[in-house]
Amino acid sequence: MRHVFGSADVDFFSFLKNKYPGCAQAHALSLCCGDGAFEEQLLQMGVFGEITGLELSPERIAYGESRNSQGQTDGLRRLHFLQQDVNLGNYGEQCFDVVFAKAALHHIEQLEQAMEGIRRCLRPGGLLITIDFFGPSRFQWTDAQLAACNTFWSQRVPPRLQHGRAGHAVGAITRPTPEAMIAMDPSEAVRSGELYGLMRDHFDILEDFALGGTVLHLLLSEDRVNHFDASDPSHNAVLEEAVAFEQQLISSGALSSDFRFMVARPKTTGPCA
Ligand SMILES: C[S@@+](CC[C@H](N)C(=O)[O-])C[C@H]1O[C@@H](n2cnc3c(N)ncnc32)[C@H](O)[C@@H]1O
Repeated sequence: MRHVFGSADVDFFSFLKNKYPGCAQAHALSLCCGDGAFEEQLLQMGVFGEITGLELSPERIAYGESRNSQGQTDGLRRLHFLQQDVNLGNYGEQCFDVVFAKAALHHIEQLEQAMEGIRRCLRPGGLLITIDFFGPSRFQWTDAQLAACNTFWSQRVPPRLQHGRAGHAVGAITRPTPEAMIAMDPSEAVRSGELYGLMRDHFDILEDFALGGTVLHLLLSEDRVNHFDASDPSHNAVLEEAVAFEQQLISSGALSSDFRFMVARPKTTGPCA
């Protein structure tokens, strides 16, 4: 938050509330909403007035609905789930003020169809708000990205932290094969590398914040984080250094930002208009 908004006191919720206060009454459609936990917070914080969540997994919806029937917080009463494949792009006609997509669009293969669906379902002046992964499709990390990650891991992380939970040494960060990615989850980052270009083709961009993650996402995943202890200042110093290292590479243009927070409006002329 410090790097993105210039202050640790600003977060996505307060930014949206201050910059787009009209959204407090908005009916938002949330794509790939999972169990709706983040949506519940959006409602409780007064960012949106009502949310319809689209989600493919009946299990995630059932979990969200079971929380709903137990808790019945004010936020949950204004959250409704629909089980639907976002790839289909049929979200209705001019029936939402906002489309919200967090960790969502990078799971979508039929991106053009989804973007056309977003345009159609928004009322005039409606917004797409996305917080997502825009990095290489199927995690085919760039050579520059892998070199940066492995330089930091081998040269800047103290040897005592270069071990997994079971005490074994954790080696170099590598690129998974597309086949391994598909076996793990066929929708994971399916066309994420095309997402940023498609956003700019189909939408007028009102906000575009680089959230980073190009190094940190790879560095701080799986076994590599297991020895980090948030209460140890020397461990936090390594994390701070990693954040600064990534920031420097992104701000100098050596690496792009794999994660972004964007607010956009469908173009009135262009591919989908
Ligand atoms: C990374 S999770 C993000 C969940 C939630 N938006 C969040 O940020 O916590 C991705 C979600 O997208 C759902 N999903 C994947 N493909 C989908 C599709 N084609 N249509 C609808 N939901 C989908 C998954 O079931 C999962 O709940």
